[in-house]
This record gives sequence, C-alpha cells and structure tokens, in this order.
Amino acid sequence: MFGRSQDSATNNTHRKSSCSKSLIAAHLVCLPRDLALPKILKPKAVIFRQSYMTSVLAVRQRGWMVFYIGTGDGQLIKLSVDRKYHAACPTVLYRTSDDRKVFLKLHLDPVDHKHVYVPFRNQMKRVPVSNCSTYTNVQECWSAQDPYCGWCGSKSSCTFEDDCTDSDWLSIPDESQHKMISHKVEKDTNGQILLKIHTHLTVGQEGPSNFACHFAATSGSICASNNPPPQFPHCTCILSDRTLPVDGLHVTVKFRLGTSQLSEQLRLNNCSNMSGPPSFMLCRQCVKAGCGWSKNSCSWANQGETDDRVCHKLESGKSFSIPEISSITPSVLSFYGTNHAVLLGRNLGDVTGVRIQTHADCTPKESPVWGNTGISLTFHIPSTHLKGVANVCVLLPDGSCHGDANITYRSSPSCGNITPSSSWMSGKRKLTLMGSHLDLVEGVVHSHDEQDIKLPINSSYQSLSYDAPAAENTSMISSSTVLLKAANETLACSLNITYYPEPEFTSFTAIRTGNNVRITLKKKSDKLEMSKDELSVWGVQDKQEYGCILEAKETSKDTDSFSCEIKGLPNTRFQKLKIKYGDKTISLSDSSSHRVSPILLSLLIIGHIASELC
Ligand SMILES: *[C@@H]1O[C@H](CO)[C@@H](O)[C@H](O)[C@H]1NC(C)=O
Ligand SMILES: *[C@@H]1O[C@H](CO)[C@@H](O)[C@H](O)[C@H]1NC(C)=O
Repeated sequence: MFGRSQDSATNNTHRKSSCSKSLIAAHLVCLPRDLALPKILKPKAVIFRQSYMTSVLAVRQRGWMVFYIGTGDGQLIKLSVDRKYHAACPTVLYRTSDDRKVFLKLHLDPVDHKHVYVPFRNQMKRVPVSNCSTYTNVQECWSAQDPYCGWCGSKSSCTFEDDCTDSDWLSIPDESQHKMISHKVEKDTNGQILLKIHTHLTVGQEGPSNFACHFAATSGSICASNNPPPQFPHCTCILSDRTLPVDGLHVTVKFRLGTSQLSEQLRLNNCSNMSGPPSFMLCRQCVKAGCGWSKNSCSWANQGETDDRVCHKLESGKSFSIPEISSITPSVLSFYGTNHAVLLGRNLGDVTGVRIQTHADCTPKESPVWGNTGISLTFHIPSTHLKGVANVCVLLPDGSCHGDANITYRSSPSCGNITPSSSWMSGKRKLTLMGSHLDLVEGVVHSHDEQDIKLPINSSYQSLSYDAPAAENTSMISSSTVLLKAANETLACSLNITYYPEPEFTSFTAIRTGNNVRITLKKKSDKLEMSKDELSVWGVQDKQEYGCILEAKETSKDTDSFSCEIKGLPNTRFQKLKIKYGDKTISLSDSSSHRVSPILLSLLIIGHIASELC
C-alpha cells in the first residue's frame, strides 16, 4: 500500500525520515526511520492531504525537505517541510489546462538542481523549482517561505543563493515561522521595561557581524544608555522611560543586515493595562502586543505564555451564541472562486465574515458577508491557486472562527464545440456547449456584448445549454465569439457563432387525416439549420388556437417543410398559423384565401383587355 518515495539523484539528500504516498488515503505522511522493523507503523505527522496524488519527489534543501507532488488532475505542487514536520503553504508550480494526469516519475534536473522534469502522457515539462524573482521586496521574498529564495542585498532582488555573491543573502530560517520579525515586551526585576526583537532570518557568513538595530519613537531615541549591543538574531532596547503612555508608544525599529535595510513599526503597550474579562479576543490582543498571558489576564512577556495557542482554550466571549454551518452553495467551484455563494446554518446573526483556508499553513482568505438573516447569508468565495478541498468557518466579531464546512476547488471550465453554431438575429436560440467542468460556469456571453450575461438553462460536467443573446446588428450577417464567466473571470472559448437573418416562413397547407389535421409549413431554405424542436405552431380557427405537434422536417433545394398534426380537429380551414421560435411569435395567413395566384391574375387581365376590345 505504501510506495517508497523517490530520491533525487543528488547527493544532498540525507534522509532522516522516509515519506510515502498512500494512494488510497492520499495523504503524505512521514514515518519514523526504522522502516525495517516489523511493527505497526503510525504516521509521525500528516503533512499534506490531497486527492489523486500520483507522484512524489523529495529533495533536501538546506534545513528543509521539499516535496514535489504530481496529481491526477494535472498539478505539480511544491511543499516545503521543516525538520519538525511543519509544512509551509503549498504552492502550485505548474498546472495543465486540461487536467492531464502527472505520471509516476518526477526528476530533479541533475545539472542545475533548479528544475523538475514532469512527465505527462505525451509530453515532458521542465518546470523551475522556484520563481524567486516574482517577489519584489524583502518581506515578500521572506513570506514566500521558500527555502530556495532569499533576498540578495547587493542585487536588491529575490534570488537563488548561488545567484547572489558575497554571501549577502537573507533567507528564511530552518524552522517555519509566521513573521519575519517578532517582539516581546518584558519587565525585569529592576522594574525596567525591555523591548526584545527577534529576527527570523538566516544570513551568510558576513551577516551576523554586520547587524545593527535602531529604535526610535516620534520623540526621538527611546533606549537607555546602558543598552546591550545587538546579537544576531536578537536585539534589545531597555526603555529609558519607565512608564508607557496609556494609548501605547509607536516605535520604529530599523535594522541593517549585510547591505540590506529592514524596518518594522510596533506599538508598545503597557501589558498590565490590557485588562478586562478574560476572552479569546483579549488574549489574542495581548499576545499580539508582545505581552504574555498568565492566569486569565495579560502581563509582561516574561511572566506569561507568548504562544497564541494558549488563547484557543478560552471562551469566545459569552455574549455570542456559537454559529453552526449546515451547507454552502455552491460547494464545488472552479479555482476562480464564485460570487454570491449562500451559506445556511444556525446562530449566524453575529457572523461578520467567512474564512476560507486551503491548507493549514496558508494565510486564510476572509470574505465579508451580507444579507445575513441569522440562518442564511451571502458571500464571495475567493479564488485559489491550489485545486482541492478547503475549510470554511464563520468569523465572530471577537476574531474566533466556528463551524467546519468544506468546499472543493476544481479546474477551470473549458469548451470543445457548440451546436448549433448559429442563431437568428433576434436571439434566444438555445445553444448547447460541450466541454469539461461546464457545471462550474456561472454565465455565458457573446463577444459583441459582454454585459449581456446569459445564465445556463441546464448544465453538467460536459454540456451546458443557454439562450443566445440577440445580434448586435440586425441588418447584416455577423459573427461573435463565445466566452464563459466563472466568478470575475471571463474565459475565451475560441468558438464562433454566426448570426443569420430571421427564418422566413412562406406558406402552409392543411389536409384532413381521419380525425386529425396535418399542416405542412414551408420556409425558405437558409443556413440556420433549424430543427423541428425549435418551432412551436398553433392553428387559429375563429380566434381559437389549436396546438400542432411537430412531427417531421423535410429539406429540398430552396424550401424547408415542417409538418405537424392537430389531434381531434377535423376542420381544415385556418385563418392563420401562429409560429413561435426563440423569442419571436409571428402569424402566417392562409395563402389560398387571400393571395391571388399570378396565373389567375394574368387571366383576369387578359379577360379585361378582351372585353375592352369587343
Ligand atoms: C502600567 O500600568 C499600571 C496600571 O495602570 C501602572 O501601575 C504602571 O506604572 C504602568 N507601567 C508602565 C511601564 O507604564
Ligand atoms: C469579484 O470582484 C468584486 C469587485 O471587485 C469583488 O468584490 C469580489 O470579491 C470578486 N470575486 C471573486 C470571487 O474574486
């Protein structure tokens, strides 16, 4: 059941653990080292869950393990895991447009170690392991949590390590961190207030000796004269003033590290002033301010707990009833997200937002809500990079999040062909698209009027029907491209629709067949290829309308004939026919009673001339 993962061909893979992909459970789990022992194995950590994993490649990069994971729906996912098995947010390095499966063996480029070869059925794709240059400042470069990327001070850009000279390269530490710079506010035994800064960075050899910090408030320098010198990665400021303003003190901390400059804005609070009934929100504020939580109140960092997990044990504040989620519609959507999703549940009245988390270590996305009735609310589901299941919870004003619902992000819809591929100019012809993931399409537009969004009449994974919009110009034949709408995205289909003039019905005849009447309706032939199912016909007798059931269509050189039958009506004398197609209703008068045939007309004229002559 467990297939051994593949090693990279490089010699930098000294594995401390063995990671496997279970095809059945589709979890990436790391097992303790001694695989040989015949005992029941328990996963040490579950670091990634994903449906349809097909291949895994593990590479060691500095203190991190980097997993490249291929999926059955055409994604190459990169997951960096630190030595304590904390995973960074997974990223999608490559995604096929058509869900093509990634084959079993992934290979790291043996020469540059910066590309992965990804096999598909009839193609091998060379994908870069990182795109460091897309991050344009130190903070972004760091936040990518990518062990390959670091900030190169001399080049002022985010690069691979060997693209940066003079070891002037700032990168993430070997342990996963959520912030580049964290701080704590302590009070020592002498009653002095200490601001302690921790930079979560790794630097080249020169870096630590070239480390400096500078603390300032608007009033100027704030540290005492006996301030200790900075010691990478820490620096400390002993406040010269022993009291803090009631509303906090704004402090700017500037760092120099190698040739890079960093800066951080902080608000320094009097920890023992953050008081109130113990609640999740107070605890979180306290920890965020660099203070410590101890015995249900906020105190200095050295006197309490500074990890915000301590707050999860607290009540979310008694005044709110705990919301529950019962359903989300739609719950399956394309990776573009969706607008106007509806969430149903209980106790939703106080809910201020919806949080969507694709993976435990990715920054969650939050959406505001509206139309909240207490049992239902509306919100937008944001787009994502990673296809798969995401967790949804609802937010209360105190920042706590409740409920545990899932949504599934799928691929982008795409189209193959369309039938019919034309419409009459007045529009509302029913067109049917074939393709994939068409159930995720929210609307269809034609390129001549992208504001006129047509909703699907019905749709499934592989087909979707909608009514064509009217043509832009009703006096000439024109053509338009089909576009699909998924959330805010408009996807081109590369399918054309031609608009032809309206069908022209010319005459009809009615004959009796037993108890029924058979009507034959004639239409000039055209390029519309109208089928009998696109027509509705009624015979009108003395203002009464009799529905005529369409039975057949026959095509000759320049005429199309449709035949239909009116059941249980023996009388063949109709004043007119009512014909409906698309949005148009027309009436066609009985030609035999009104129009005089040309031959008869010429006979009359000849007769008239003859009588004149005589
Ligand atoms: C913090 O607040 C407490 C209570 O209000 C006060 O006694 C103390 O002096 C303050 N400390 C500082 C450093 O401002
Ligand atoms: C679509 O755009 C609107 C307006 O910019 C925005 O509020 C909404 O969140 C977007 N929807 C998605 C799914 O990204």
